[in-house]
Amino acid sequence: MLLTNCHVASLHGDTPYGAIQTGAIWMRDAKIAWVGAKGDIPTAAREDASVDLEGRLVTPGLIDCHTHLVFGGDRADEFEKRLNGVSYEEIARAGGGILSTLTATRQASEDALLQGALTRLDALIGEGVTTVEVKSGYGLEADTELRMLRVARRLAKHRDIDVQTTYLAAHAVPPEYAGQAVAYLDEIVIPTMRLAAQDGLVDAVDGFCEGIAFSTAQIARVFDAAKALNLPVKLHAEQLSHQGGTALAAQQGALSVDHLEYATAADAKAMSQAGSVAVLLPGAFYTLRETQMPPVQAFRDHDVPMALATDCNPGSSPLASLLLAMNMGCTLFRMTPEEALAGVTRHAARALGLSDRGEIAPGQRADLAVWDVQKPAELAYRIGFNPLYKRIKGGVV
Ligand code: NIG
Ligand code: FE
Repeated sequence: MLLTNCHVASLHGDTPYGAIQTGAIWMRDAKIAWVGAKGDIPTAAREDASVDLEGRLVTPGLIDCHTHLVFGGDRADEFEKRLNGVSYEEIARAGGGILSTLTATRQASEDALLQGALTRLDALIGEGVTTVEVKSGYGLEADTELRMLRVARRLAKHRDIDVQTTYLAAHAVPPEYAGQAVAYLDEIVIPTMRLAAQDGLVDAVDGFCEGIAFSTAQIARVFDAAKALNLPVKLHAEQLSHQGGTALAAQQGALSVDHLEYATAADAKAMSQAGSVAVLLPGAFYTLRETQMPPVQAFRDHDVPMALATDCNPGSSPLASLLLAMNMGCTLFRMTPEEALAGVTRHAARALGLSDRGEIAPGQRADLAVWDVQKPAELAYRIGFNPLYKRIKGGVV
């Protein structure tokens, strides 16, 4: 199929947005075969069916590279508590937070988890998301962690979307192991990681390095186990305080380090050397009324690619809009609209270790979003407005 008469933000190359004014895109066998100016369309492409996009904007399909879409229950009560002055950390230490979602998730059937996740996934798909990452981490026992990962995989059978799964059993210490984090890692996290990997349920391994979660030495154990299974790693680090998780993750060649509000310029330098992507999560920053900004300028100075994601979860970021995450990335973190768009396409792909998507260029997957806007900056500019016109997945509209 040939898409004609469109503006293209290809995110490819070094020009702003990789923009092509009045361009065309030729798709073959679920891939981009050619992209360029309307006047240069190859002869062979002219023989395919063509669609006139009437001057609309085409971007790569959006990629949400950090979500916790699968969970049971909700945490509206904690939202109320926080508004009454109790902090996220206090709630977590009192057995709420991640641990309250744990109870609801353990009790939920596989089908109930699937239905809940599909509702949130549909909101993302409605905004042109074509690849989504989904983490486990609300089971914190073998059965429920595996169930969450199976649900994540099943999402791709129910919707036309690619799902990347991340094993996050090192998210919190469950009550049955209170005060015994290392035993939890050795007896549950690591053996279950092996089972999940055997069943093909894991694309990457993640952890939460924080005062209310795991120390760097504990995360290092998880990363060693991942390495033995040839699984790439990523980390929730420096979200609420500086713990040194970023330096560890960089040293281990992590695909990404996520959150990063309390990261330093030295952390940015280490990430740059390691090639790790900084995944910024303004939905969590906003929800927790955080005031410490991630070091965006240091990431720029050190050429660390920045991705943006929803972090969709029931506690710190009940956000199911990647467009709003882009807006928040600009308004709260002072990212440019171009950085925001790269953050949900090109750099989001890289945060997942995927090189076949995130740009519009020959050989890339034909995953595209067509927008009823003129300029790419409009995608980050509006609030609560969805200008998606068509979503194209694997060359199919
Ligand atoms: O990415 N930071 C840790 N994990 C999640 C929040 C989990 C929760 O509060 O349920 C996050 O923000
Ligand atoms: Fe998260």
